[in-house]
This record gives sequence, structure tokens and C-alpha cells, in this order.
Amino acid sequence: MKPNKKLLVLAGDGIGPEVMAQTKRIMDWMAKRRTISFDVQEGLVGGASYDQHKTPITDEVMADAASADAVLFGAVGGPKYDSLPFDVKPERAILRLRKDLGLFANLRPAVVYPGMASASALKQELVEDLDIMILRELTGGIYFGQPRGIETLPDGTKRGVNTQVYTTPEIERIARVAFELARKRRKKVVSAEKANVMESGQLWRDVVQHVHDKEFKDVELSHMYADNCAMQLVRMPKQFDVIVADNLFGDLLSDIAAALSGSLGMLPSASLGAPDARGRRKALYEPVHGSAPDIAGQGKANPLAMMLSFAMMLRYSFDMDEQADMVESAIKSVLATGMRTPDIMTKGAARVSTSTMGDAILRELDKLAS
Ligand code: IPM
Ligand code: MG
Repeated sequence: MKPNKKLLVLAGDGIGPEVMAQTKRIMDWMAKRRTISFDVQEGLVGGASYDQHKTPITDEVMADAASADAVLFGAVGGPKYDSLPFDVKPERAILRLRKDLGLFANLRPAVVYPGMASASALKQELVEDLDIMILRELTGGIYFGQPRGIETLPDGTKRGVNTQVYTTPEIERIARVAFELARKRRKKVVSAEKANVMESGQLWRDVVQHVHDKEFKDVELSHMYADNCAMQLVRMPKQFDVIVADNLFGDLLSDIAAALSGSLGMLPSASLGAPDARGRRKALYEPVHGSAPDIAGQGKANPLAMMLSFAMMLRYSFDMDEQADMVESAIKSVLATGMRTPDIMTKGAARVSTSTMGDAILRELDKLAS
């Protein structure tokens, strides 16, 4: 058995290393029991990188990321780094990875697993069996638009500027991903913007409609103002299948979707680039949650979003559907036994630590493989 998949693991800060450690146990398990193994390289990112190198990500790590088949990313940031200048904040690392690797399509599935509806902030019947996909544009919009900055005005007051900007090709390519995803699901796309107040939103709406009419007539498309979409998500989430939105609205809507599914600790994500000549996409997989410094180091973190991100990697980067299914089934089974990390704790459930959850997943994988 020779390692054939090159993986770069960037655990990062806060709970990042804790949830990554549990996910690495699954990789080891797969290496031991099955024919796949990964050539795993590790690197520093975020505050951990800043502490050593005075930068949230070094050029060397960026080069490793560019040559890897996939990047598995934990989380970055923490109060220790809050007062750093903008260009060396831990978050710059993830933004640079997204931008430099061209990872424009961010898939954030929000799924409510059996028995998990009671952990949701919403009434159980509203979210039971929920399965929606938020598709967020990830390399454009106000996150990267120029001009940006804080300037001092002649009277001594300041002016902060960011620019929301999208071009036709940027909107077309994310729209295509949305329609392609919908074709494999329930064939419904809602596109969210603020066409009522923003020119970039008007363009977004027109281009998405155009791509639909030209190439994807078989998919149902509707447009929603992003604020209404946020409300609809908490009012009647099951009306949605795929929601496509720009970088900022997608950031907000995916956090709402997370609350529907019980906890940010349950949500994985995949960030994909354009396919190259061989049909391969650059890819980074990360949980939607952040570094959660308030619970870091206490064994309280939920490792499931990280594990589900790993499962997405198996599926989208390596076409290993069988193995991805196994990880997901193991997670479902363990949840069905009532084991819960504190973030998804409900009445009558058994509260467990990060590593106990990891133990349970591995035991379940053993069962599934036998
Ligand atoms: C996310 C996060 C990031 C973002 C931060 C950490 C830069 O909120 O991935 O949703 O805003 O994109
Ligand atoms: Mg976010």
C-alpha cells in the first residue's frame, strides 16, 4: 500500500488542534484497515504560525497547500491576536488560502441528523430531516474588493472603506456550481442578494438568471433579498434546497443555517477551485465553526464538523464515496446512541468529551468494517 493522496493538515488555533486530533485518528484507522492511505504533511497556520514566524501563514506553507491534493483546515484566531494589525491577523491565513488557491465555491451543507432536531434553536418539526446546501462565493465581493482601508480625514476623524464588487464571470461560475449541485439534489436554487439597494446585487440577479435560462432550465430558480432569505431560513427552512449567495451574505446565511442544525459544531464545509485540465479541483475542507477560544483545551469541542469536513474531502476530492459514507454513518449511529458533546447537549442525552466522542466514532467504524 503506498500513500497516494497528498494531504496538508493545518490544525491552527483554539479547538482546531483538538478536533483535528480526533479526525487524524480516522485517517490512521483508514490507513491501517483499508487500502487507502494519505501522505500527510502538517503545517502551522493562524496564531500558531504568527507566534513562530510573525506571519499567519508562510510562503512555504502556501506552496505546500498549492501542491497538495487537498488541505484539511482546523480553525484560527483567538483573543491573544485580536489587537494585531489587520495584515497579520490569524484570519488573513484562511483568506489568503482561499484567494491564492482560487477556492471560489464554498459548500456549506446544513443537515439535521436523526435525533438531532431537539438540539436546534427552532421547533423540532421545522427542522426535522432538514437537508439544505448553502453555496457561498468565496474569493470575491466585499472581502477582497478594492479600495479598502481606514484613512484619516483632514479634520482628524477617520473613514473606513470596503468595496463590494462582482464581475460577470465571477457570478457565472458560482451560479453554475449552484445549478450543478441542485441537479444532484432537489433541483431548486434560491439566489440571495440585495438587488433592491445594491448595483452589484442587481448584476448578480441578472447574471444568475441568464445562466439559468441558457444552461439550466431544468432547475427551478427563484431570487430572494438576502434579509428576507435570512428570515425565511428561520421561519420555514425546509422550503430551501440550494441557496447561492455572495461572500458576505453567504457568511451570514451559513451561520444561521448552522443554528438550525443544532450547533456550529456539526457543520462541515468544502471550498473548491475551478477544475484544471485533468478535471481536478484545488480544495480545502474546514469546519464552519471557529477556534472557540472560550472552550479550547477543555475537551469540550465537538469534533464532528471536522470529521464531516474530512468526509467531504473523501467525497469531493478523492471520489471515495464508500469511505465518506462510512464516516457519515458512524457519526449518525453514535448520535443515535444519545452521545453529545456540550454544544449539542439535550435533556436525557449523555454528555461526553471530545476524545470520548472520537473513541465512539472509531468503535462504530470498527463495527461497520467488520
Ligand atoms: C467563516 C468565517 C471566516 C469568514 C472568518 C474566520 C475569516 O467566519 O469561514 O465563515 O468570515 O469567512
Ligand atoms: Mg463565518
